[in-house]
Amino acid sequence: MSYKIAVIPGDGIGPEIVRQAQRVLDVAAAKFGFELEYTELLMGGASIDVNGVPLTDETIAAAKASDAVLMGSIGGDAKTSPWYRLEPQLRPEAGLLKIRKSLNLFANLRPAYLYDELRAACPLSEEVIGEGFDMVIVRELTGGLYFGARKTEVTDGVRTATDTLVYNENEIRRIAVKAFEIARKRRKQVCSVDKANVLDSSRLWRSVTEEVAKDYPDVQLTHMLVDNCAMQLVKDPAQFDVILTENMFGDILSDEASMVTGSIGMLSSASLNETKLGLYEPSHGSAPDIAGKDIANPIATVLSAAMLLRYSLDEDEAADAIENAVKQVLKEGYRTADIASRGGAEQEPDGCTVVGTQKMGELIAERV
Ligand code: IPM
Ligand code: MG
Repeated sequence: MSYKIAVIPGDGIGPEIVRQAQRVLDVAAAKFGFELEYTELLMGGASIDVNGVPLTDETIAAAKASDAVLMGSIGGDAKTSPWYRLEPQLRPEAGLLKIRKSLNLFANLRPAYLYDELRAACPLSEEVIGEGFDMVIVRELTGGLYFGARKTEVTDGVRTATDTLVYNENEIRRIAVKAFEIARKRRKQVCSVDKANVLDSSRLWRSVTEEVAKDYPDVQLTHMLVDNCAMQLVKDPAQFDVILTENMFGDILSDEASMVTGSIGMLSSASLNETKLGLYEPSHGSAPDIAGKDIANPIATVLSAAMLLRYSLDEDEAADAIENAVKQVLKEGYRTADIASRGGAEQEPDGCTVVGTQKMGELIAERV
């Protein structure tokens, strides 16, 4: 079996972490008897530098023609990078939004769980951590404020900006179905997060999720207001199994959820459509400040590659092997600086060894 993988290294730490994920993928492919054929594509700032735009039609076509897309991260430092002197629709992030829309990647899955080995890096108190937590945020990715009409105009000498939050019931239903399907394979609880005490879009969201829930009598549906959810994530994260929410709320809550796990450098994400094609990227950004220094944590990207094997290629055994290899490396005490409990001295007082990006990739690959 041979699969076509589109690879978007992107900007900042993107290229170096993607390289390690490919290294791990290659070992898994050889071990489990399939082939991966990579095509490198430009997106974000890397594409602006070459093509003048963050995403070309050719790149979209190539991504569509592949079995899955593996991505690093895009974007630069908004204060210093020339990319941010361009019009908003020509900046790196616009490329990311466009590929999500063009491939119809409406379902963004962001798992957030606490590795036992990383309890020391978790900012919550032992009492709150308890037995640990394991949730997945299912974020709607192609609607809401991100894609509604927007404009900035001057009316009677006053600058006024408008963004529109729009959802129709079909968009809500298809993401709700995804959340319920996922919950069915987990602890069977969906917490739908909205702002139904203020927003019409949230009231529609609530009523559609309740309609969908009727088809899943084995799954429990609860509703939570987004401000309360932000609080509950640090107060009692273990209460959550599947969090279902709209685009903007999901953007914010997924950063929060990942931070309470100890490191955003550990968390993968998958963006899926109705077919097998998906885009897999770490939950974190391009961290331009540490790019090229061989200190970035490649684990989120490695785990995204495992999700790619599982969801797009149905190579579950290879995915398991990668996930287990990551656990093994942590168990043996290897850490990148961001997940080291005591700030990243080379030999940590608790016996952990701090390693760089490439070494971490090598250690994981060896254990696949
Ligand atoms: C994310 C990012 C993007 C988003 C940015 C880079 C446009 O924060 O994937 O969470 O807001 O969706
Ligand atoms: Mg975000």
